[in-house]
Amino acid sequence: MQIMANFAGKSSEFRVLVKIGAIELPDYPLILAPMENFTDLPFRLICREMGADLVISEFISSEGLIRLAKKSRQKMTMEANEHPVGIQIVGHDEEHMKEAVVLATEAGPDLIDLNFGCPARKVVSKGSGAALLADIDKMVRIAATVVRATTLPVTAKTRLGWDEQNKNILEIALRLQDAGIRALSIHGRTKVQAYKGRADWTLIAEVRNHPAIHIPVFGNGDITDVFSAGEIRKKYAVDGMMIGRGAVGNPWIFREIKHYFSTGEMLPSPTIPARLAILNRHIEMAVALKGEMKALLEMRKFYTGYFKGIAGIKLYRAKLVTAGNWDEVNQILGEISGMAPADDRLKQDKQI
Ligand SMILES: Cc1cc2nc3c(=O)[nH]c(=O)nc-3n(C[C@H](O)[C@H](O)[C@H](O)COP(=O)(O)O)c2cc1C
Repeated sequence: MQIMANFAGKSSEFRVLVKIGAIELPDYPLILAPMENFTDLPFRLICREMGADLVISEFISSEGLIRLAKKSRQKMTMEANEHPVGIQIVGHDEEHMKEAVVLATEAGPDLIDLNFGCPARKVVSKGSGAALLADIDKMVRIAATVVRATTLPVTAKTRLGWDEQNKNILEIALRLQDAGIRALSIHGRTKVQAYKGRADWTLIAEVRNHPAIHIPVFGNGDITDVFSAGEIRKKYAVDGMMIGRGAVGNPWIFREIKHYFSTGEMLPSPTIPARLAILNRHIEMAVALKGEMKALLEMRKFYTGYFKGIAGIKLYRAKLVTAGNWDEVNQILGEISGMAPADDRLKQDKQI
């Protein structure tokens, strides 16, 4: 299909594989972004199945991990068929980061990802995550220490800079690369922007195209569907895309974007039975991992995505988020499966 020639990523035609250390990913990989309280084992497994080439855990605090806090350890639960998978660590103390990464390495991921971009107050106030954008020397020291502490490839995820006046991502990328970081994911916003405004991919592509940058650079921010993915790929050359919110309750996004990139054609939206089949498995795995009550509470954040675009779903969604137990949830899902004709209710009229 000639359509590939239209993509800004075409210079990657010569890089058949994207390599992160010894990990080989297909050309232009799609990566599930780390998301606290979302990218747990069940959701990562489903996204892998739906075409994500690499999945990253939610952030795990170095402090929690070295105290061997139960919650932090549980977040490192992985399964054989989800590889390649990365464990993301967040922290601010070099020695503690080193100890945490040794423990994370023992858990058996394919890579360690360092969180240098989380803008949440509870993280930044401790000097972790995006706080390190205000202390690049320390960020680089942490990266170098961690790289020496593990045999796994170490990657980093960060933002354009601290604020509009300090978008120093090129300097950051060059220095992290020197420190031994094997791939960089860049969210096209600053710390001060948090999640406001639109992600700006211009600088991400500039970093990726800089002659001195030889590690893969993945772009991140506001890929919500095939349309945004297609537009961004046409305009900005990066080595792959990382997708966060767009995948929540919508794991098909990976398959749909891959199909579009390779054929130029759109897959139809999944039918209601197809959505229910995946959702049911998601719930089953979550219940098995976390117990019924916790799992059902956490699943509430996914329902909007799973049923997006289905006319008349609002009433059922309201019931689902107030359901008290799994039996009730199953009953409501049964009612949804009876919504017929399923395919007519899906919005499939979008054209590229
Ligand atoms: C609920 C939520 C939790 C997040 N947790 C993390 C995290 O644990 N680690 C991280 O590096 N980024 C985290 N992020 C940022 C995302 O990985 C991603 O950079 C951001 O959402 C922009 O990408 P998107 O537009 O595809 O969602 C989180 C974002 C959201 C919305």
